Amino acid sequence: MTLPGGGRTVTSVNEAPAVPRGERPLLVIEPDREKREYLRQVLQIEGFQTVGVETLDGGLDQDFSRYALLLVSMSGQTAPAIAELHERAPNTEIIAIAERGALDLALKAVREGAADFVVRPFDPAELVQRATRVLERRLREQELARLRGQMVDAGNFHGIIGRTSAMRKVFTLIDSIAPTDATVLVNGETGTGKELVARALHDLSPRRDKPFVSVNCAAIPETLLESELFGHEKGAFTGAIRRKTGRFEEAHTGTIFLDEIGELPLSMQSKLLRVLQERQVRRVGGTQAIDIDIRIVLATNRDLEKMVKDGRFREDLYYRVHVVPVTLPSLRERIDDLPLLVEHFVGKYRGKANSSAQGFSKNALARMSRYPWPGNVRELENFIERALILSRDRIIDDVDLPEAAAPNTLVSNNAAPLPVPTVVDTAIPLKDLIDQLTARLEAEYITHLLREYRGNIKKSYSHAGISRRGFFEKMRQYNIRKEDFK
Ligand SMILES: Nc1ncnc2c1ncn2[C@@H]1O[C@H](COP(=O)(O)OP(=O)(O)OP(=O)(O)O)[C@@H](O)[C@H]1O
Ligand SMILES: [Mg+2]
Repeated sequence: MTLPGGGRTVTSVNEAPAVPRGERPLLVIEPDREKREYLRQVLQIEGFQTVGVETLDGGLDQDFSRYALLLVSMSGQTAPAIAELHERAPNTEIIAIAERGALDLALKAVREGAADFVVRPFDPAELVQRATRVLERRLREQELARLRGQMVDAGNFHGIIGRTSAMRKVFTLIDSIAPTDATVLVNGETGTGKELVARALHDLSPRRDKPFVSVNCAAIPETLLESELFGHEKGAFTGAIRRKTGRFEEAHTGTIFLDEIGELPLSMQSKLLRVLQERQVRRVGGTQAIDIDIRIVLATNRDLEKMVKDGRFREDLYYRVHVVPVTLPSLRERIDDLPLLVEHFVGKYRGKANSSAQGFSKNALARMSRYPWPGNVRELENFIERALILSRDRIIDDVDLPEAAAPNTLVSNNAAPLPVPTVVDTAIPLKDLIDQLTARLEAEYITHLLREYRGNIKKSYSHAGISRRGFFEKMRQYNIRKEDFK
């Protein structure tokens, strides 16, 4: 048999019974024939399908992904570059085999991506044990990845609910950056779930078992902030009766989440910049620099770029924290997720509110979908909790949405028009502003009429003084459905 790419010396695939540890064969790359056969036999006895080759004669272009594990001899001139092997087949594990006294080569292999190593002479049982462990870990990781996929399909990614493409993009991004140590800035309006993202980043990282320290920069008075973040030495200031470790030190080996970073005073911004650059902290009143190994995640609902322009946020710090931005969409921008979120929160609060409610009526959901939710998911969550407490219905239909939802500020009961809201945003060209206001006015006017006439189209368009056709056209344009008003 030949290997894909054509190995020079190929021993046959061993016809072992069912392979207990993974479905794909193992590849032994060992120039010495005797040693190679020995390795193969050791593994074969344990039920691993094993292929042996002398060298990587087919070159690195071979398709290694068909193997679960490569056992690579680091001896001789022909020792393949582990980094390249690892890059070519990232889902194939590697165990490096080093000769006696060549521990440095084995360690180098591990740095380059090998999962483990053995040094000759080794006990065959040790090799089998290491191979088994590596393969089992690989299976576990695959299983986790599968479950993760299932969670995303179910619309629950580590407690972050969402199924729209906007949210799926966020989940994919979190998945790819979580395992790294990159500094992450989470952007998004209030209540969009920035804190949940910070936690997910930590939980999906190799630091998951280490501390997750969350600091709300806006909640700590400026005078205390430095000591809170960096700690202080005994006697550093009046009242500092004992040494205190700061939050950065507490987060050592783990993740620190700096929330509301836009509220950080300028003096602290320069100190934070230093931490980001040097990965060292100095306690207040201390002289010694303390090394810290931390992953930093920051969040803000402010427009940092604008704050930089206004001189309220350091530009150099902005570039430092802006390495990997994760931007959360507002609830308005992913309103198709509303029913899923509602279902989630009904489940969460039904018991607590001692409510027999099963959910919300279609009509109620439609009305909720038209409300702009300025407080985003937090506002929705609170709204649902309140509705469950107040309602006695099994299916809640009568939703009492806050003022902004009710377009009756535009048209009074007898339809005498009230003034159009004065949203004069000079940042927008006049024509666009007029278009936007017109659209808002029309949508609210139509909604109001339909509500007045309980979905009766004829009465509504007669009242509005426009044609039936024109009325339908506008309903289509603004996504208004008459069923929602019955
Ligand atoms: N996608 C989501 N799925 C489930 N719950 C969410 C989601 N987004 C937000 N929440 C819930 O909404 C509330 C607010 O979320 P969070 O504290 O993460 O918001 P935030 O973006 O940090 O807001 P702020 O800027 O006001 O601090 C929390 O109770 C959180 O559990
Ligand atoms: Mg927050």
